[in-house]
Amino acid sequence: EKIDRFRQTLLNWYDESKRDLPWRETTNPYYIWVSEIMLQQTQVDTVIPYYNRFIKTLPKISDLAEAPEETLLKLWEGLGYYSRVRNMKVAAIQIQKDFEGKFPENHKDVLTLKGIGPYTAGAVTSIAFNQTQPAVDGNVMRVLSRLFEIDLDISKVSTRKVFEEIIRHLIDPERPGDFNQALMDLGATICTPKNYFPETSPVKEFNASYLNETWEKYPVKKKK
Ligand code: ADE
Repeated sequence: EKIDRFRQTLLNWYDESKRDLPWRETTNPYYIWVSEIMLQQTQVDTVIPYYNRFIKTLPKISDLAEAPEETLLKLWEGLGYYSRVRNMKVAAIQIQKDFEGKFPENHKDVLTLKGIGPYTAGAVTSIAFNQTQPAVDGNVMRVLSRLFEIDLDISKVSTRKVFEEIIRHLIDPERPGDFNQALMDLGATICTPKNYFPETSPVKEFNASYLNETWEKYPVKKKK
């Protein structure tokens, strides 16, 4: 079936070409959470040393829950958006109180944590716990728009839910975390905002906007 071939092709490419990133060497949900929060507004290359220092300084969720504000601000200095790390501390305290210190596996529980929205919840539960949850950010919407010639405006809040439904159908049930991260890598390295390199795309044979030569139209992003 076509969808199986798509998954196979994407995951084969991921296995051969994935970026070596430190948070890909762990299934610890706390570490994956840290990485996803840092990656929200910051480039991968910048995040790597911050991530390594953060988990070395605060190796357990309880360390984060008990960390003094000044330690956190020091660890975050240069990343900006300090509310991210303040929220993480609040969430770590929540985890101590509500989940016996263990990062929750239930997707609904994860969404109750301060600072964790649909994207982060999907990323952590798919990567750490192998759950078939979508993790849709702007990059993934761009990739999907071009793959399927989707005319929805990606700057509209309601659009994300449509893309999440598409991912729920598309996602590889055996390797959901790798599937999500393969789309992220595709968006970061080949299907980028400024430059699209469709000839080098591992999934070009599935790519409607490549086959129809319409990729410049996607994603649709109306100026507000
Ligand atoms: N951007 C956001 N999450 C990421 C991840 N897990 N790997 C690479 N880039 C990302």
